[in-house]
Amino acid sequence: MKIVAASDHAGVELRQEMADEARALGHEVTDLGPAPGVAIDYPVNGAMVGRLVAAGEYDLGLLVCGTGVGISIAANKIPGIRAVVCSEPFSAGLARQHNNANVLALGARVVGPGLARLIVRDWLNAEFEGGRHARRVDLITDLEAERQ
Ligand code: RB5
Repeated sequence: MKIVAASDHAGVELRQEMADEARALGHEVTDLGPAPGVAIDYPVNGAMVGRLVAAGEYDLGLLVCGTGVGISIAANKIPGIRAVVCSEPFSAGLARQHNNANVLALGARVVGPGLARLIVRDWLNAEFEGGRHARRVDLITDLEAERQ
């Protein structure tokens, strides 16, 4: 799959770790930064990745900030984005299987590199199950109309 990754300044190292894991699993990863030492506000890159995934330019997005919270909130403002913050692999896998999450956000101050790789692995290896879950995800999509 085509994956786009970005972070704020707090998430640079963990973002690179996640991108490496995704590449090791055979995915094509575009890393949009920032470079080490470059400060960037998390809403900017959260929205950027959200827009790229929502537009279909990438299949999935990877995001990192200090907690994963702020950057996921920003991504979720983009219609079509279902961004999840995960701190363990179980929720990450289910977020794909049941919620069809298309963006994974991690907290660089929350999880270490080894755990981050396990989370990315389970998220990418899981597949959306459809069926009753598709109906529920559609109900989430319907909520986007309330933003108009
Ligand atoms: C930046 O210091 C920090 O606020 C940010 O990385 C993130 O944790 C916000 O949710």
